[in-house]
Amino acid sequence: MQYVKLIREKQRDKDMRNIIIDCDPGHDDAIAILMALAHKDELNILGLTTVGGNQLLAKVTKNALKVLSLVDEDIPAAAGEAKPLIKPIHTGEDAHGESGMDGPVLPEPKFSVVSDNAVQFMYEKIKGCKEKVTIAALGPLTNIALLLRVYPEIKSKIEMICLMGGGIHIGNRTAAAEFNIYVDPEAAKMVFNSGVDIVMAGLDVTNKAMIMDDERELLRGKGKISDFVSDLLDFYSLASKRFGFEGSSLHDPCVMGYLLKPDLFEGKRYHVDVETQGDITRGMTLADERPVPEKEANTLVLLEVKRKEFIDFVCQCVFKLDAERRDKKTL
Ligand code: BDR
Ligand code: CA
Repeated sequence: MQYVKLIREKQRDKDMRNIIIDCDPGHDDAIAILMALAHKDELNILGLTTVGGNQLLAKVTKNALKVLSLVDEDIPAAAGEAKPLIKPIHTGEDAHGESGMDGPVLPEPKFSVVSDNAVQFMYEKIKGCKEKVTIAALGPLTNIALLLRVYPEIKSKIEMICLMGGGIHIGNRTAAAEFNIYVDPEAAKMVFNSGVDIVMAGLDVTNKAMIMDDERELLRGKGKISDFVSDLLDFYSLASKRFGFEGSSLHDPCVMGYLLKPDLFEGKRYHVDVETQGDITRGMTLADERPVPEKEANTLVLLEVKRKEFIDFVCQCVFKLDAERRDKKTL
């Protein structure tokens, strides 16, 4: 198969990308958020929004605020949609536990949300930004679908939506569907068909971005944040083992990995659509792989990752955050 080499596209004069992180923490969401916070010299994080997914909205919002509190980063955060557009919510308790981020014990958050309307919050942040904005989507696509439906004019201000979701040859929630797309297929369909550039970090690549037990061990004992990530992964790896995997797939971190180090990934452009009707295929992402596809490609589907270098990069992000915090204390 012919893959496209992904080279970081230079952003205007400086490599500063404006992003909004839409998430449902979530063990892997938490790690992805930390990766972004370790790169505030490259990512201008305009805000963080939450969506019901891995757990109910109140829980994932609290988890997001706990992560920000742990690293003492008062990034504006807004709570979003509690439920998918049409279906009842299906949470990811089997992988993420009762709190949505079981394992580490964290104090109550010291920050609160600035808004309970993530759609409006995103709209205002994007509209108020001089440059285009990238959306890093780490959960079900409910908030983002609504943003694009209510404010279609905002599409021209969106650089791309880089999302964790789907899988063109594989599912996890069902044999056909990945969790984030399965939870809200109608929203996903709207996003893929919106005309906005999509980068899809689906299971094709995220299941190759696995952290193994011995690598997980290397993280522990290096500082408060590395211990937090180790605790997250200890819990998360139990679920991964139950699901039959040797290591833990770092799904959502692939989104930040792509935004920060695209040369670690390879992918191919396809037209991708979402099945919303099928009895056994609801939530499936279907890529038109025919040599002459019916419609123009709308999505860059990530397919390969340099696993070792990626895991090393994730660890370096965590160590960087710990080192920065140590330096602050000694000043
Ligand atoms: C996706 O679903 C959630 O469990 C994870 O946070 C990730 O976003 C993986 O299928
Ligand atoms: Ca997630």
